[in-house]
Amino acid sequence: FDDVGGEETYRVDCSPEGLNPIKCADRGCVMGAASLPGVPRCYFPPDRGYQAVGAPQDLPNGLLFSLKRVGGNAMFGGEVDPLAFLVEYQSDSRIHFKFYDPNDNRFEVPLDIGTPAKPLNKALYNFTWTNDPTFTFNITRTDTGATLFDTSMGGLVMEDQFLQIATKLPSAKVYGFGEHEHKSYQHDMSYQTWGMYSRDQPPAYKGNLYGVHPFYMNVEDDDNAHGVLILNSAAQDVTLTPAPALIYRTIGGVLDLYMFLGPTPENVVQQYTEAIGRPFMPPYWSLGFQLSRYGYNSLATVSDTIDRIRAYDIPHDVQFGDIDYMDEQMDFTYDPVTYAGYPDYIRRLRNDHGMHFVTILDPCITTERSNYRPYDLGQQMGIWINESDGRTPALGKVWPPGASVFPDYTSPYCHDYWITLCKEFFSVLPYDGLWIDMNEPANFGTGSIVGCDQNNINQPPFLPKIWGDLADKTLCPDFKTYIGNMYDTHSLFGWAQSPPTFQAVQEASGKRAFVVSRSTFPGSGKYAAHWLGDNYSQWSNLKNSIVGMLEFSLFGIPYSGADICGFNGDANYEQCNRWMQLGAFYPFARNHNGLGYREQDPGAWDAEFARISREVLLVRYTLNPYLYLLFHQAHTEGSTVVRPLLHEFVNDKETHTIDRQFLWGPALLFSPVLDEGMTSVDAYFPKARWYDYYTGAEISPSQQMTYVTLNAPSDYIPIHVRGGYVIPTQEPARTTTVSRTLPMGLIIALGDAQSHMARGTLFWDDGDSIDTYANGNYFQMEFVADENGLQTLVHSDGYRGIDSLTFGTIRVFGLSSVSSIMINGFPHSSFTFDPTTKELQITSINVGVKDLQSIAWA
Ligand code: GLC
Repeated sequence: FDDVGGEETYRVDCSPEGLNPIKCADRGCVMGAASLPGVPRCYFPPDRGYQAVGAPQDLPNGLLFSLKRVGGNAMFGGEVDPLAFLVEYQSDSRIHFKFYDPNDNRFEVPLDIGTPAKPLNKALYNFTWTNDPTFTFNITRTDTGATLFDTSMGGLVMEDQFLQIATKLPSAKVYGFGEHEHKSYQHDMSYQTWGMYSRDQPPAYKGNLYGVHPFYMNVEDDDNAHGVLILNSAAQDVTLTPAPALIYRTIGGVLDLYMFLGPTPENVVQQYTEAIGRPFMPPYWSLGFQLSRYGYNSLATVSDTIDRIRAYDIPHDVQFGDIDYMDEQMDFTYDPVTYAGYPDYIRRLRNDHGMHFVTILDPCITTERSNYRPYDLGQQMGIWINESDGRTPALGKVWPPGASVFPDYTSPYCHDYWITLCKEFFSVLPYDGLWIDMNEPANFGTGSIVGCDQNNINQPPFLPKIWGDLADKTLCPDFKTYIGNMYDTHSLFGWAQSPPTFQAVQEASGKRAFVVSRSTFPGSGKYAAHWLGDNYSQWSNLKNSIVGMLEFSLFGIPYSGADICGFNGDANYEQCNRWMQLGAFYPFARNHNGLGYREQDPGAWDAEFARISREVLLVRYTLNPYLYLLFHQAHTEGSTVVRPLLHEFVNDKETHTIDRQFLWGPALLFSPVLDEGMTSVDAYFPKARWYDYYTGAEISPSQQMTYVTLNAPSDYIPIHVRGGYVIPTQEPARTTTVSRTLPMGLIIALGDAQSHMARGTLFWDDGDSIDTYANGNYFQMEFVADENGLQTLVHSDGYRGIDSLTFGTIRVFGLSSVSSIMINGFPHSSFTFDPTTKELQITSINVGVKDLQSIAWA
């Protein structure tokens, strides 16, 4: 064994279902002592696995191998032999490799992998293989020689219900895999195993949560980064070892991997989203503050809540409706008594107050009410998930009365069904977005109301480290969907529900869709936002929400956030206040509460709480034009919105573990208070010019690359602007609808000491039409500033709504003195320069946005 790399930490467990020396020997594996906890005692020797038969077949851009099994007997039976191994050089930065059965069509995830924009020219990687003593391969980074993937630790298995691949890693800096509650963004490599199988599971350490994301990023020793997608939807797990190495196991499908070579972390996400689909462009209103709770229980309570928020003048753009507004918790209904007049109320929110409304929909349709069209139509169309016979609709128990059936969103007929109902409901209750919940899919029982049959699909010989068995809190694995057994499609449920829901919102409203989904899978970000589920009103959950957001950025779902102030449990004043401050900078800034807990909306506490919430939300609204630009860039280029510091400062190794602070794009740094009783934050500042957002004062060079203790009294969240960037802003208001009509501004944060250069972009459109960018219906302007002034350039002028917008105030950080200002060549006298903070504020500009050509300061 020493031949393949030495340490015990490279061992791959050959008795994952429990140590059994006889089975171990039968499988062709070997036993040894283990000196570290977590090290397997029975492990694969290098001569057990597969061997290539003959030379691989040359493909235009790749290789095709035929492999045969060697050494020992099967692990669990159903060995795939011969085994095909395909390698495809898809672009310079993307390599695809896949083990599959050449003689059988095993389940494959029907995700369209995007064609790379740039074809193969000079690959960043090199693929090599050996047959000695078994077939293993390496992928190296051509220019550094770093080995990114290396299967020489053995353990390759492909059986019907047990598939495994193990690789050495170039460094122990691993990020990603989900959905879990990870306590840190960078993984703990001490033999941690993470199960992945979608589950109605509130955040809990080591629990497999709502979505499945078999994607990781690794930062190499020299700070290059690569990412790997393991495209598989069966129940699966991954073990991270200190070697460092990674062992991946799944119980179905094929071993289908894509590697993205970066080399920067941002490049990795851009390349990943090019493959799985770029994120949807959110409507502008969805950048506003959103409010929800489970259990208002009446329209009167909804209206009182909204009134008190309005009385405090707290920004509030979006109101949610949860299942308590429904008639007996049935989709596509509202309670005619407790919510009498709901549709009119929502129309007034929209028409009189510029607000928007998002409603929940659950994928469980009760069978026990007569004349219930959602059930009758589904019966008629035959679009339910069926039992193993493929004919009998599967029955579970969820919110509505009695037994429920479940639409099978993998079926195109089901899309018609769902879109029809969503459109019909729009004419009853006019919504702007849909919130799809319980789509793991959740069932309060096990398997179905009649349980599950005993067979090897429902009870596979090996179960990955997931909570419960495969049927726990969901449907039986042998139940049938259009594209295969739930065994393979279970974790695709929410993913498959997202596109038709997106389409339904677009068709119903004629406007840009907004869909929030609880269960997600690679590719979901193209259609859906995500919230981090039923979190707790606890400090740990406040902190972990940052890790969760950073991970969803990596997963190509940039629009994310946690329930502000927590879903489960009673919120408390101090924590909820800090949560409003952090949550104001979640892309999905929604305060949502569970049934029966104390009220926690920002109007529910006292005047001081309301003031603090209001002020921090006004900052959010001021910055929304920048957030919108970042979403536009995510949508068009696949970049992240909420970004860890390591994405911008990867050469500063200190940033590799920072997950208590985060950025918006490259330019805004948030350093929230995350602990009880604290009124200061230790914030890290990488090497760059940084300015205090509120005052413009510069962090001194001696404070760069170190932690600085910042004051953060209860009404304050530290925010810093990075030198070198121009950030578009707008005067805030109680809604984005109003704010969008008010004067715009800029924050110009001058860059490094030599050139002082700062750059930025404004992207603007009507905020809610479909595909404005693709159709050219947008305005885009570029800004370049230095110590002498600002120059602008209109890049695209396809949106007439820009014509009525003016610039109001422009703030400039980083000048040493200013005594005169010229705008478009004319002197302008309204400005102040603060000699202490060195902030220049140019006010009353009153020039049309597109007419601003230049500002000179001297
Ligand atoms: C689930 C959702 C939660 C929602 C509740 C009632 O628990 O995760 O957000 O409020 O169901 O619909």
